[in-house]
Amino acid sequence: MTEEYILSEGKARIAISMDGYKVFYNPLAKPTRTLGVAFVYGEGLFRNNELVIADVLAATGVRGIRYVLESGYVSKAFFNDKSKLAYRVIAKNIENNGINILSQLTRMDANRFMHQNRYQIDFIDVDPYGTPSPFLDSAVSTVKNNGIIAITATDLAPLCGIYKRPTLRKYSSISIHTEYCHEIAVRILIKSLAEAAGRHMRYIDLISGHFINQYIRVYARIVEGKRGYPHDNIGYLIHCEDHLMIQSCRMDELKDMISQHITCKNLLIAGPLWIGPLHNFSYISKILDNINGLRAVDSDIRWLYKILSIFKEETDFPPYFYDLHRASKRLGISVPKLDMVIEALKSVGYRCVRTHFRGTGIKTNADYRTFLDVLGGL
Ligand SMILES: C[S@@+](CC[C@H](N)C(=O)[O-])C[C@H]1O[C@@H](n2cnc3c(N)ncnc32)[C@H](O)[C@@H]1O
Repeated sequence: MTEEYILSEGKARIAISMDGYKVFYNPLAKPTRTLGVAFVYGEGLFRNNELVIADVLAATGVRGIRYVLESGYVSKAFFNDKSKLAYRVIAKNIENNGINILSQLTRMDANRFMHQNRYQIDFIDVDPYGTPSPFLDSAVSTVKNNGIIAITATDLAPLCGIYKRPTLRKYSSISIHTEYCHEIAVRILIKSLAEAAGRHMRYIDLISGHFINQYIRVYARIVEGKRGYPHDNIGYLIHCEDHLMIQSCRMDELKDMISQHITCKNLLIAGPLWIGPLHNFSYISKILDNINGLRAVDSDIRWLYKILSIFKEETDFPPYFYDLHRASKRLGISVPKLDMVIEALKSVGYRCVRTHFRGTGIKTNADYRTFLDVLGGL
């Protein structure tokens, strides 16, 4: 048996191949794992207790291993992958990182694994290739009451509205390919998780939805009961190019909203999707306030501080953003500095922040025409 390639990520040392065969490992997903560490830590802080976690599609096990080493709040970690090679690599990685005592490794289908460990797990991480939709029902129905589900989606073409039919098939939604399509993608995934929970008489309490390095990630608490189902946070986005207007509405408001655009030739509709706040402000604040208690490496802590601060700022804004490039092109002007535009909007009384979705994106409560007027007046 030869280990061919070992690398470091955060506090973990990870073999990514064995006997000449590579197991899936994408360095681009590192920030999503670092954020995962922060949310396991956040949950430990929230409960003031240790957690049982499960990395159900583990590949090398890097995600779960980092959660153990860097959050300081894991009492037991399940690792699972159906691949024989991954199983062997994970076993080696668990040993190399000195976490045998609290780890349990299995090689089975992820859905079967979750059902076999029903109500045993506080934090389930579902990190598949492409879409997580085949795993949502098992995850939301088997996690402990008040437990956390973390899910990844990387099937951006359907979620961002490039292909329509797969979006309907996998998420029962329609997306649109606009400058803010990655936010639409995150919001469709949150809605799908909420729907899956609803099917099992549970509901979601969203912690965060974000898009980083081509990875969509959603973290939500899953709670027993139907009263808390977030009906008012599920709806549609209406994008009217004739009126230069973007609006959101609840499911039951769609008819009235469309009737205002009955003669419009360029009306786009996305949804159903999540129209509520994108992050839980107090949860993110608590992680930020305690960021130095994380056992992560310093550079990751500094990065987490920056990204979580942006999450916190952008929490309470409409479910879309405006893009400076796109808007400047529309006006035929050169692209001004983001800070200048933010200041200009604030000076006329609007709330306004940058967004993690795009370096040239702005979230504001100003409508799109007002935004264009302010931009054109600079
Ligand atoms: C995208 S990789 C996981 C990446 C890993 N979590 C990380 O952060 O590097 C997906 C893994 O899921 C495994 N897999 C795919 N379908 C599965 C299933 N139905 N049950 C269990 N494992 C599965 C694959 O073998 C692969 O190792």
